[in-house]
Amino acid sequence: MLAVMATGFDDADPLAGLRVGEARRPAAPPGWVEVRVKAAALNQHDLWSLRGVGLRADELPRILGCDAAGVDGEGNEVVVHAVIGDADAGRGDETDDPRRSLLSERHDGTFASSVYVPARNVLAKPAALSFEEAACLPTAWLTAYRMVFTRSATRPGDTVLVQGAGGGVATAAIVLARAGGRRVWVTSRSPARRERALELGADAAFEPGARLPERVDAVIESVGEATWAHSLRCVRPGGVIVVCGATSGDAPSAELKRVFYQQLQVVGSTMGSRGELLELLRLCELTGVRPVIDRVLPLASAREGFAAMLAGDIFGKVVFSV
Ligand SMILES: NC(=O)c1ccc[n+]([C@@H]2O[C@H](COP(=O)([O-])OP(=O)(O)OC[C@H]3O[C@@H](n4cnc5c(N)ncnc54)[C@H](OP(=O)(O)O)[C@@H]3O)[C@@H](O)[C@H]2O)c1
Repeated sequence: MLAVMATGFDDADPLAGLRVGEARRPAAPPGWVEVRVKAAALNQHDLWSLRGVGLRADELPRILGCDAAGVDGEGNEVVVHAVIGDADAGRGDETDDPRRSLLSERHDGTFASSVYVPARNVLAKPAALSFEEAACLPTAWLTAYRMVFTRSATRPGDTVLVQGAGGGVATAAIVLARAGGRRVWVTSRSPARRERALELGADAAFEPGARLPERVDAVIESVGEATWAHSLRCVRPGGVIVVCGATSGDAPSAELKRVFYQQLQVVGSTMGSRGELLELLRLCELTGVRPVIDRVLPLASAREGFAAMLAGDIFGKVVFSV
């Protein structure tokens, strides 16, 4: 079957190890089911994999991709939950299972004609969502959902700053926080992406590092080193910085004096539970909120999508149709 694979690791040139071609189809592990993939969405995670983060060299080639929507063995339209974990081992939350992984880390991922997943990881796709829209939800959108509604502890009327407005997680956070009644401010390096963030519903857009009219209740941080110092300065005393990623680097100064003196909360967030994905699907169905899609490409042209993400030349999600 046609698949998009990691065949090697290269930190400086991640696309060097990317291969689009025929892959072998092993048998499904016991208790796992096959989903025929109709659409799959690209994440920074797939670029990290090509740099060797989370993958083992002796397990290559590995089919990439965390996100998919497709059709199960009974012909039902479904969405795939990307977190492979045991909720009991995580005291009710599979993202807290110490042995959890994401699809494409220890098991082949979704950039293929079909994918095997545990039966628990298959959820009904609302008919109102296209396969392309549904495929955007399990990673970037679920991550943003948990950051805004669970981990930030903000309430309607609170102000949230989203750093790096153009990204998959960031665009999701803008739309979801707005749908949830938060005032949304954003930063982006690009004037065009700041403009598009306003069109999406952001209340104000700023250059990176800009002084804001007032301090915010929470920061949604997925950029890392490039925006961290600004995030620490933008949040009100006692406010929260929710961090899910570090695209620009993971070792900024911790600025501990500022953290304790301002009583800041720095809260990590990763993916979301099956229950939160169900909530997100319902929210999209009920409110009309839809994922922001930058472009849809055939799976055979996946390299073009990877290159655009590597160049930072996207607004929203890159989706592959299968
Ligand atoms: N923990 C989790 O469960 C989880 C889940 C999903 C993603 N993540 C992580 O979250 C991060 C974002 O993922 P994504 O899929 O949203 O990626 P993406 O779509 O490529 O977005 C990255 C965004 O970062 C912003 N950025 C600002 N300054 C930057 C700089 N100096 N260098 C690079 N980017 C910069 C860019 O925004 P502007 O160009 O608008 O400034 C860009 O749009 C990644 O590190 C990813 O691994 C984590």
